[in-house]
Amino acid sequence: MTLLIRNGRIVTATDDYVADVLCEGETIAAIGRNLTAPGGTEVIDATGKLVMPGFIDPHVHIYLPFMGTYAKDDYGTASRAALVGGTTTLIEMCCPSRSEDPLEAFELWKSKAEGLSACDFTFHMGVTRFDDDTPPKLRQIVEAGVASFKVFLAYQGFFGVDDTELYKTLRLAKELGVIVTAHCENETLVAQLQQKLLAEGKTGPEWHEPSRPQEVEAEGVHHLMTFAELTGAHVYIVHTSCDGAVQAALDARRRGVHVAIETVIPYLVLDGTYAQQPDFEGAKYVMSPPIRSADQQPLLWNHLASRDIATVATDHAPFDFQQQKEMGRDNFTLIPNGIPTIEHRATLLYTHGVATGRISLNTFVDSVSTQAAKLFGLFPRKGTIAVGSDADLVIYDPDYRGTISAATHQMATDYSAFEGWEQIGRPEWVTVRGEVAVRDGAFVGELGSGQFLKREPTHF
Ligand code: URP
Ligand code: ZN
Ligand code: ZN
Ligand code: ZN
Repeated sequence: MTLLIRNGRIVTATDDYVADVLCEGETIAAIGRNLTAPGGTEVIDATGKLVMPGFIDPHVHIYLPFMGTYAKDDYGTASRAALVGGTTTLIEMCCPSRSEDPLEAFELWKSKAEGLSACDFTFHMGVTRFDDDTPPKLRQIVEAGVASFKVFLAYQGFFGVDDTELYKTLRLAKELGVIVTAHCENETLVAQLQQKLLAEGKTGPEWHEPSRPQEVEAEGVHHLMTFAELTGAHVYIVHTSCDGAVQAALDARRRGVHVAIETVIPYLVLDGTYAQQPDFEGAKYVMSPPIRSADQQPLLWNHLASRDIATVATDHAPFDFQQQKEMGRDNFTLIPNGIPTIEHRATLLYTHGVATGRISLNTFVDSVSTQAAKLFGLFPRKGTIAVGSDADLVIYDPDYRGTISAATHQMATDYSAFEGWEQIGRPEWVTVRGEVAVRDGAFVGELGSGQFLKREPTHF
């Protein structure tokens, strides 16, 4: 398959210029003006369009047994939705429970993607227990091509690790050259505040945020930073929701801690009032850490514009409103946490970030693609447009206008957190390793064509 993309505006994390891109087989073969292509080449006129590297979502949940239920998507619905939104590579959290064997869990999670995903995919290996059996199993998983771990400082008794386990995980990660991604909230404070609020009769979704206030998250980050400083491990804070948490990480960075910061799209575009909507509507907006008060949004945008925040992920964790969020109608602590966002991450970031002038196009590409590739061992195969890189490309039409709705989205959930919102632009064409997966905004790819991406540890 040969593909020639003519006359597009090529945007990477650092460059912005007009040229043609020739894709031969799975990779980019040439970039330049007035390229010629052999007969039979499919030619796409990208005049007036943005040509960007395929987006990488470094934090998704697809197979997720959680809070008494399972996340709604499978790799069929999730990868189709991701691709329509321009995301060509998914990094899923492999999240075994404490009683599950890590090797078996890794094989199970991989089996859910293989043969079904239309996106390329890899995993952060969740370390939810650390005993004497754990290190050899984690070594085997790293050898199989998984160059990152995930720990939870929240959800104690289910995914959460204690401080001894955290310390040992970071020590091993440092030895192996594996970066550790971490969910940072102080679980003791969460549990105590939940109990206090429930005892006061405060049971609705609007009490989710007060049960996990900003201080709880900042303390979680500070805690991880201390452990990272004393072990030398490289760490990545997932779903950072507020300035206090970012500041705790930046303070540590000034002390020499190797820390990268992720935020997720809900925190940039939604505020706390959504979870305060009546008739249990607020449950649609319950995720952890919670969506914060509106004053946090400009602070997060500024941290993104300065690139102190490296990545914008989704933390896609889809649960139906009718059947699943409903489980917590009388008790907010039982509402399955998560918001379905895999489809709209980049279009929302473009609409509310680039089109409003909050971030540059280069920063947009950096945060939705390049940084994830660099941090997680996929660069320069993914995350940029260069000769030899995988031909994962998004041709974005900035003139398109549309409306987000559950009635038309590709995700399996019965609601959209962004129902009726206007979107500026859309991925018109998307390719995965040279194959067209989205044409005129519609999925035309092949389920099962996605590959497991083997990644090398960094040996820092
Ligand atoms: O609310 C969230 N974030 N749900 C998914 C699990 C996690 O903590 O990432
Ligand atoms: Zn989390
Ligand atoms: Zn602490
Ligand atoms: Zn998550």
